[in-house]
Amino acid sequence: METILADMRRGVDKGLMEKAGSIIKSGGLVAFPTETVYGLGGNALDPEASARIYSAKGRPSDNPLIVHISGMESLDYIVGEVPGQALMLADAFWPGPLTMIMPRSAHVPLSVTGGLDTVAVRMPDHDIALALIESGGGYIAAPSANTSGRPSPTTAKHVMDDLDGKIDMIIDGGSVGIGLESTIIDLTESVPMVLRPGYISLDMLRDVLGEVRMDPGLHSDDPSFRPKAPGMKYRHYAPKAELTIVEGSEENVRAAIESMAREAISRGQACGIIAADEDASSYSCGIVRSAGSRAREITISRHLFGILREFDDLGVDVIYSESFDTPRIGMAIMNRLIKAAGHHILKV
Ligand code: TXA
Ligand code: MG
Repeated sequence: METILADMRRGVDKGLMEKAGSIIKSGGLVAFPTETVYGLGGNALDPEASARIYSAKGRPSDNPLIVHISGMESLDYIVGEVPGQALMLADAFWPGPLTMIMPRSAHVPLSVTGGLDTVAVRMPDHDIALALIESGGGYIAAPSANTSGRPSPTTAKHVMDDLDGKIDMIIDGGSVGIGLESTIIDLTESVPMVLRPGYISLDMLRDVLGEVRMDPGLHSDDPSFRPKAPGMKYRHYAPKAELTIVEGSEENVRAAIESMAREAISRGQACGIIAADEDASSYSCGIVRSAGSRAREITISRHLFGILREFDDLGVDVIYSESFDTPRIGMAIMNRLIKAAGHHILKV
């Protein structure tokens, strides 16, 4: 299949957007930018479109998809009964990087929800995404537009690298703003529960809802605590190299990474280092990539996945990463990094 690359870096192109909408309506797949990561979109009401999504990504079909909408009037059609809490959260954070799990209506095919009786819904905060949803009929099922197991794409080039030739169109809207997938909150639990941390933090959710808890399966290495979001159980976001996160005082971390990088290089291994802007210049060996500034944590979330992909392209053997436990989105950044590292953390 020839994949059309639609350039909308300067904004929504009406003609191309009509074409994109007609691809979605006829059951095809269009990758598009959102404020979090690029999504791989298909008609959420068409079971054949979701089958195509699973096959293009190589994703297990028990891992449900998020349904993207562009207006509140769309909610009733796909949700059985809309909880009051959803309206409060939508008021505070939609359009935006928050996905809500609610009871599924019969209009949503089970192939989209991986057989579950709930549906994940999000209204993205991005002009191109919103225009595509409208042009494509109002309900777009979209996982992140990466091959299953690779870091989520934050540029159209990342999508091309994974999906060129497998989908109908890729809309290039430039680099994304946030760089980590949306926060997921489950509103079908008696106490709302965060299934995946993201840019909308636990504190922000508690400010609106009061009591909110974290899925205990997220913190645990104990396999009997399974995360509730099926997608969170996979070793995801994984670079090809062996990744180790180094934690401790900034001084100890820098010294430990420097010495491990030296050792790796003397063994003949190619070594990547992920550092904050504040420390990057202190390393004297290895391929050093600065994720961003600890003082502006959004710069770190924005660049993390791209750096993991770059190290894959460079054929790096080992990666040492500083830890980025920043105040607001640090929980989300570390959640992704720890998964990428397969829980390999060194405390110094
Ligand atoms: O930011 C995002 O959310 C991006 C953009 C494209 O919107 N999308 C995204 O989709 O990250 P995906 O498919 O990569 O991740 C969706 C996650 C998976 O972990 C999945 O298991 C979970 O949401 N999920 C979807 N429906 C669910 C449901 N009904 N119950 C529990 N978890 C669900
Ligand atoms: Mg994903």
